[in-house]
Amino acid sequence: MQKILDLISEEVQKAFEAAGYDAQLGRVTISNRPDLCEYQCNGAMAGAKKYHKAPLMIAQEVAEKLDASDVLAEVSAAAPGFLNMKVKEEFVRDYLRKMRESEKFGLKMPGQAKKIIIDYGGPNVAKPLHVGHLRSAIIGESIKRICRYAGHDIIGDIHLGDWGLQMGLIITELQKRQPDLIYFDASYEGEYPEEAPFTISELEEIYPTASAKSKEDETYKADAMEATYKLQSGVRGYRALWNHIIDVSVTDLKKNYENLNVAFDLWKGESDVHDIIPGMVEAMKKGGYAYESDGALVVDVKEETDTKEVPPCMILKSDGASLYNTTDLATIMDRMEQHHPDKLIYLTDKRQELYFEQVFRCARKTGLVDADTELVHIGFGTMNGKDGKPFKTREGGVMRLENLIHEINEEMIRKIRENAETKGYEVDEKEAEETAKVVGLAAIKYGDLSNQASKDYIFDMDRFTSFEGDTGPYILYTIVRIKSILGKYAEQGGTLTNTVIENAVNDSEKSLMLEVAKFNAMIEGACEEIAPHRICAYIYDLANAFNHFYHETKILTEEDVQKKSGWIALLILTRDILETCIDLLGFSAPERM
Ligand code: ARG
Repeated sequence: MQKILDLISEEVQKAFEAAGYDAQLGRVTISNRPDLCEYQCNGAMAGAKKYHKAPLMIAQEVAEKLDASDVLAEVSAAAPGFLNMKVKEEFVRDYLRKMRESEKFGLKMPGQAKKIIIDYGGPNVAKPLHVGHLRSAIIGESIKRICRYAGHDIIGDIHLGDWGLQMGLIITELQKRQPDLIYFDASYEGEYPEEAPFTISELEEIYPTASAKSKEDETYKADAMEATYKLQSGVRGYRALWNHIIDVSVTDLKKNYENLNVAFDLWKGESDVHDIIPGMVEAMKKGGYAYESDGALVVDVKEETDTKEVPPCMILKSDGASLYNTTDLATIMDRMEQHHPDKLIYLTDKRQELYFEQVFRCARKTGLVDADTELVHIGFGTMNGKDGKPFKTREGGVMRLENLIHEINEEMIRKIRENAETKGYEVDEKEAEETAKVVGLAAIKYGDLSNQASKDYIFDMDRFTSFEGDTGPYILYTIVRIKSILGKYAEQGGTLTNTVIENAVNDSEKSLMLEVAKFNAMIEGACEEIAPHRICAYIYDLANAFNHFYHETKILTEEDVQKKSGWIALLILTRDILETCIDLLGFSAPERM
């Protein structure tokens, strides 16, 4: 379907033309004076110079041509030359009727779908997920869903950190604790046990212990580097242990991401490109891009127009070891070979901005990607505590994701009970817990996504979990309210399936209808700008418009059957759009709350 603003613009453009002016002047925008009109056009002012005419006169002539319009109801010229407009009730009604019948509410699919890979996990094996991983997961998942809904071909990849020194550290610590493990017996040639010699909780304790020791003890660190080297060069026992570490850790990660409603299509890791690194490095040398500098192998990536210093991209360290850059570059090569994406999107903390600039330039310069492959880094800001500093536990440590979710859920249960008490109904314990999980996730995700990704934001438990204001729970509360009205309508004997949207009967209904009508334009914008916050802003406006209408309209006691069923139809469409939007943000609504 065409966007509603385009349809209105077309109408006004025709009128400009009919009055003898350039049609282009007829571009319409949403009114910035909603007290006066719904839409406005400033074209008469823009045309005044060209036509040597007072803008008000042009506006008046155009307004006259719109007298008989099927789209516009009230068109008036206002000084110094605005065209103020309202649309006809029938026009909005028909637009919404068509939305209801159309796939994806009339969202146009792109002529040519793009293949896009989104890299938005980045957890490190054997290290617990912490709040730093939260933003990447939340924002990335939403971007994946939005672009997929908008008709593109999307692959989400977790890109596990599974190959670096942390693996050597764990293996070293295991060896110190259990030197007799069969994995450390170099002469052993048999099969290794299927069961891992540790649990996830042990693993999560082993890593920080080993990491602390390596910082104090040089020989320990040397051992860990040696173990990393042995692992990477394929020593059997080390590989077998590594497989256990991955299995145990990935099982746990899957559970954690599932709780967040986050699902990756690919579970690849840094280790997956290990074997293709030598070939890539060779090609970079052969092509004359990579050269030795202080023993290390680097590629220059600075450009003449740079205003800041962009250091060379290091490909290999002086000891020949690969780095974070190396795996990212090899992964780009792998992704191009396996999937030929049009676009690669990376989500990380914005402190990695320069890093990705180097990697992208290097990939382009060395021909790892095509000239038209888009490489995009979305650097997000920090999630801060109320003190404005990066979010920490009460004791000042890094907040584990599980604990954060637990805290939110506890607060949500409290609020759900409180709400039930004031409303005078019973909630059973089990239901309150289930609902708290659903609403808690909405609180966290909406709190994050409603900010522009690049900005820092304050994680404010009280505000995020509130049922009022620009919050996830408010949106859910609105959906639940609609569902409850629909439920009651059905109980009264009404049928939901054969309802038809009618003309708006009052301003609040029309405002709601015009808000609903913005859906396709909003989704297109959110996808093009890679901006989930646009969906949040939209559903906040939509929920407000609905609640305004709800407070002014006695829906269920209405006697006029047609009018009532028209409202029900509008409610169904509003609910469906709200639910679609929250699904694109990565959360869902409960039945009651
Ligand atoms: N594992 C990394 C970390 O914890 C993040 C990886 C981000 N993605 C990437 N392709 N470099 O810092």
